[in-house]
Amino acid sequence: MKKLSTISLILMSLVFVLSNFTIPEINSFVMTVVGEEPVLPDDPFTYDDAEFPEHLFNLDEEIGYSGGGRDTFALSVLDNDKATLGRVLFYDKKLSAIEDISCGSCHLQELSFAENKSFSEGVNSETKRNSMQLNDLGWSNADGFTWDMRETDLHEMIILPLTDENEIGANIEDVKIKLEQTNYYPELFGNAYGDSQITEERIVDALVQFITSMTTFNSRFDQQVVSNFSDFTDQEKLGLDLFSFNCSTCHSQGSHTLFGEEIFVEDDILNVFPFIFTNGLPEDPDDAGAGEWNENFNNLFKVPTLRNIELTAPYMHDGRFNTLEEVIDHYSEEVVENEWSVFIPPGGFAFNDIEKEALLVFLETLTDDTFISNPRWSDPFANPLSNNNIPIAELKLSPNPTSDVATISFANRDNSLVSINIINSAGQLLRHDQFVGSEYRIEKGNFSPGIYTIQLIMGDQKSIQRLIVH
Ligand code: HEC
Ligand code: HEC
Repeated sequence: MKKLSTISLILMSLVFVLSNFTIPEINSFVMTVVGEEPVLPDDPFTYDDAEFPEHLFNLDEEIGYSGGGRDTFALSVLDNDKATLGRVLFYDKKLSAIEDISCGSCHLQELSFAENKSFSEGVNSETKRNSMQLNDLGWSNADGFTWDMRETDLHEMIILPLTDENEIGANIEDVKIKLEQTNYYPELFGNAYGDSQITEERIVDALVQFITSMTTFNSRFDQQVVSNFSDFTDQEKLGLDLFSFNCSTCHSQGSHTLFGEEIFVEDDILNVFPFIFTNGLPEDPDDAGAGEWNENFNNLFKVPTLRNIELTAPYMHDGRFNTLEEVIDHYSEEVVENEWSVFIPPGGFAFNDIEKEALLVFLETLTDDTFISNPRWSDPFANPLSNNNIPIAELKLSPNPTSDVATISFANRDNSLVSINIINSAGQLLRHDQFVGSEYRIEKGNFSPGIYTIQLIMGDQKSIQRLIVH
């Protein structure tokens, strides 16, 4: 760059300005524009070492938060290389059509893989429901997924966000090509599956492996079960008693056969029922829950795991409660009677203040603090040493709705060479230009209506803007 004379610089800029509107669109081809590479340990992290605490095999309800007698199958098939691949895929924005969103955007490790907003920002609009925690999914309530329990298989479940236009929005064929172009996926697929072939089945399987490995067996509750809660404070013990008496009817840690069969004898829904119910929230006019796929189940929602519940606010399918205190107030005083009301008295359990505080303290014993700091579930692209993420200064996009030209301006005091890529919502590169200057104009008429990603790269600075063409 520095070798270019000033004159050729000026010429280049002129040629650029003149030719800007006549550059033919490059034939569309799939190409990744996300430059970051994951930083992975030389030997893969261990994912296959999870040991089920004894109490989870226990069928009796005495311990207060029933284990439900889980089988250990899901965790027994974990493989370190497959889960490592799953980790990279989970956090890789390359999967999304416009390369700005990953599973990790709505499922955050520090929040036990939930998100701290009622609704998440999807590609085009907000999600319909509250993002769900992913801890313990491989074994707890492992036969029903999403708030309406529509999905009974985790593999099938994961294809949904992967291809949902408002979540990852991946076109699997394009994704395969993009992943093949990287210098790390062929090796990661090879390590995991014996050869470097990239298939949808393998992508999904690796993601399932990663998610299945997420367990929270280091909570205070798990440690204390062993000694029959001898180190629990009196307050925690009171909370445990209240919980086992009032809440564990619905909230078990794993499968739950307490009352399923009697109620749905004629229905093949038996295997799902034990995990789906109503907790007396007022009817949600925007969301019938399981009623969305079977009207017999109007207003029933998944009974979510309460492991790590302290971390996953806001609560309920629509994120209506911001704190656990509000949740407990609901169960205490605000329960609305409905056709399913059997396990909660009309109005609520009427806890006093001491009981409410005790329940809260007990719920907090279900938190596994090691879960949110364990690097094996962390974002491998978040490399603190990488300087890939310095944004371009003073960047401004003026889409100017009244004119046919959109202008991008930014600071370029050193007259550096700037690269610009324009990518459509399918992830295809439509235009690539290089120029020297601090402004770039885009003739919107050259683009059909839609959302475009504009990527600017200048030395080690990089920024992304979105342009909507109407
Ligand atoms: C735009 C935000 C968003 C993105 C991106 C996203 N999710 Fe989700 N996820 C959600 C929401 C919202 C729900 C609840 C959906 C419902 O109930 O209808 C959910 C539910 C789930 C569930 C069900 C959990 C349960 O307890 O039943 C799984 C599993 C899941 N997501 C995995 C993934 C994976 C894997 C990816 C990446 C391929 C991903 N999600 C990407 C928002 C997102
Ligand atoms: C009759 C069954 C039932 C009982 C009893 C019950 N719950 Fe629930 N619980 C549910 C259902 C169903 C949901 C999801 C409701 C929704 O989102 O619409 C839920 C949701 C929750 C949530 C929010 C979870 C999240 O991820 O957002 C918490 C916390 C909770 N319950 C705690 C309790 C406590 C504490 C008790 C006892 C005081 C209790 N529950 C008793 C069925 C029950």
